[in-house]
This record gives sequence, C-alpha cells and structure tokens, in this order.
Amino acid sequence: MRKIFRASILNPIDVNTWRFYRDGALWVDHGVIMGLDDFCVIAGQMGANPDIEHLDGVIVPGFVDVHLHWVQHRVSGQFSGDLLTWLQEHIWPEEACYADTDLARVAAVRFYADLLRAGTVMGMSYSSPHAEATQIALASMRGDWVVGNVLMAVHAPHTLTDHSLHDPGALRAFLQRTDMAHYALTPRFAPNLTAKSLKMLGRVAAEHPCLIQTHLAESLTELRWVKELFPDAAHYTEVYDRAGLLTPRTILGHCVEMRDEEWRCVRARGAWVAHCPTSNEALGNRRMPLEQLRAHHIPFALASDIGGGPSHSMLHVMQRFLGVHRDAGVPVTPQEALYRSTKAGAECMGRGASGGELTVGKRADFVLLPQKSAADSVEAWFEACLSGAPADLEHRPLGTWLSGERAA
Ligand code: GUN
Ligand code: ZN
Repeated sequence: MRKIFRASILNPIDVNTWRFYRDGALWVDHGVIMGLDDFCVIAGQMGANPDIEHLDGVIVPGFVDVHLHWVQHRVSGQFSGDLLTWLQEHIWPEEACYADTDLARVAAVRFYADLLRAGTVMGMSYSSPHAEATQIALASMRGDWVVGNVLMAVHAPHTLTDHSLHDPGALRAFLQRTDMAHYALTPRFAPNLTAKSLKMLGRVAAEHPCLIQTHLAESLTELRWVKELFPDAAHYTEVYDRAGLLTPRTILGHCVEMRDEEWRCVRARGAWVAHCPTSNEALGNRRMPLEQLRAHHIPFALASDIGGGPSHSMLHVMQRFLGVHRDAGVPVTPQEALYRSTKAGAECMGRGASGGELTVGKRADFVLLPQKSAADSVEAWFEACLSGAPADLEHRPLGTWLSGERAA
C-alpha cells in the first residue's frame, strides 16, 4: 500500500524542539515512512496518480507508554490510597483473577483496543505473575509491546506468589520459549523478593540479555518497608544494584524518593526512569523531582502506570506532566511532553531505530489530533489538545493508524 497522507504534521526532534508542517505530507509504503515534508515538496517526488488522503487534523507520532500494568486496566482509576494498602486490598485481588485464561483473553483484547484508540502504539507492560496470562498478552498484542510477568516471591497472597517463576530452571525454560524481543524480566519491587531471588534474576538477566522493569522509591511507606527488609543496603537503589539488575536496558518506575547517591548510581549504570505523573498524583505520592533527574542527566520517558494512573491516555499524562512541574515552579514545555511520550519512549525500549517519530525508514504509526482553529501558536494548540482531551477517548474521532492500516 503506497499512500500520501496530507495534513498538518508535528514531529518531535529532541527535548526542546519539534518541527511543524502546516500543509505537510507523510508518504507511506507498506507501513513504512518513505518521506515527510511540506506537501509541495513531496508532490514533486510522487509520480503519476498518487493515492492521497486528506486528513483534517494534525498528525503526530503514535504514543509510547513505558510503564503500565495491563492486568489493572479493568480497575484503572477506581481505587486510591497508600500504595501498599492499595496493592493489598485492591490490586493483588484483581491480578489474581488473571489465573483464569478466558478472563485474561477477553481483557487483553479490550486492553489493546482501548490503548490503540487512545493513540498508544508501543509500550512496556507489567502482567500478573501468571505465565499463561503473560503469553496471552504477548499473543494478542496490537502494536509493539514488551510484557513481563511480575515476579513475586514473598509478602503477597499465595495465589500470586505460587505462580511465579522463582526456580531458576523453570524461569530459564520459560525464557527459552518466549519471544525475548517482547519480554522484560519484571521483579515487581524489592519488597516482593528476597536478596537471593533478586541475585538469581540478575544472573538470569546477564545470561539472557533483555529489558528489565521494576518499581523504585515510589512512596515513603514503601521506602520504610525496604529499609526494614534490607537493613544492610545503603539505600533502595543499592538493593537492585547489588543484584546486577541496573543496566542500560533497565526501566525504573517512579523514582520519587531518591537520594543524590541513588541518582548517581542510576546514572552510572545507564538505567532509564519511567516518570508516571498521573499515578503519583492519584495515589497521593509526591512529585517526582524532575529538577534532580535533570541535574543528574538521567534519561526518562513518560508513562500512564495504569491502573495507579487513572487514565490510559498519554494526552492526560502529558497534561499532568506539564501541570505538576509548573505548579512546583519547574519549567517544562509542550515540546518536551511530546518528546517524552514518543521518541524518548521508543529509545527507552531500545526501539529508537524503528519507531517513536516520523522519520524515513521508521514505522508509520501515527495519531491524528483535532485541529483547533482558535489557537495562535502550535504550542497553544497542543496544550489546548491536552486539556481538551476527554477522559475516555473510546468514542472520539482520534484516529490511529498502525503500520499504515487504520486500526479498529
Ligand atoms: N509497586 C509495586 N507494585 C506496584 C503496582 O502495581 N503499581 C504501582 N503504582 N506501584 C507498585
Ligand atoms: Zn507500576
């Protein structure tokens, strides 16, 4: 399929910069981008009888969400409260339901459809501890996803810990039959593992190089619990570092309550942070200190953290990213919001060569945002789009094309 989409186009370049084409053209061939430029430039290159589709709106790259729990989508935004109580009372009972493979199959179809309608085409997802539910999430995938079954050995109901792959032999066998391009080793968080099991995971990660995702320093009560459970660690970050779990392919969710030496350690290992502003707000946790993260040059991307985060829309995540940091007097721009929700996310996932921006040779996954004629700058239009985004995008005309095909 060769096609030219004619519309306004906004493409992220870097943290501070985007490029806007008022009358732009995106030239797509079999789901791959062949050209992006002003329409008049592409028009001169496209030969006889081009197939041109006019779109009324602004094309941006499909969104990337680098930290969410697909098995919490059904209860997303329904519960709040202290992290640990919220997990024990609401989230773990919900995740236990995913032992039922029929339920998991139905939920996976719904999850990917909802995410596509919200414009999210790539992401990193935590599954329940069940190997079967994880395989279902991998098999039902729409878009480019990385999924990992949460590994939980202790301090959780048996319905969850019994299903985990804590035996190194079983874990290695599981990894051998799993598509490692789409799998992340997923120790849930330090309180659910022992120093011994974390070390085992570090060894397995060294043998099977793969993405690793976990939570780090999200709340003060969690921090106190980690101190009790790992009294000889200098800090929370060291618990993972001693196990060899901090690598350039590690994505650390939240990182709210961090000391300077922890940032230095994260930086030295080259790990990424998944910044989840809507979830931090919804669960009553503090603001992630963006200024510290910047001072230490830590790479990061934005994430919804479904179901701590109440919305699966990256438009909402971007809106609150701008809101929470501005309220604290920390400067943030719409250019950075878009970059952190697209290109930075793809790079965080090791997919920088194939997605995250509208560049020749990359996948033509894009979203059409509504045109707002009253806006007098691209920045004002983009922020109006964020604040005007409905809570449930399901029935909105937010078109998403995946690999050049119109999605459901
Ligand atoms: N820490 C450990 N598990 C979770 C989870 O499911 N959600 C959030 N937000 N934090 C966690
Ligand atoms: Zn999470």
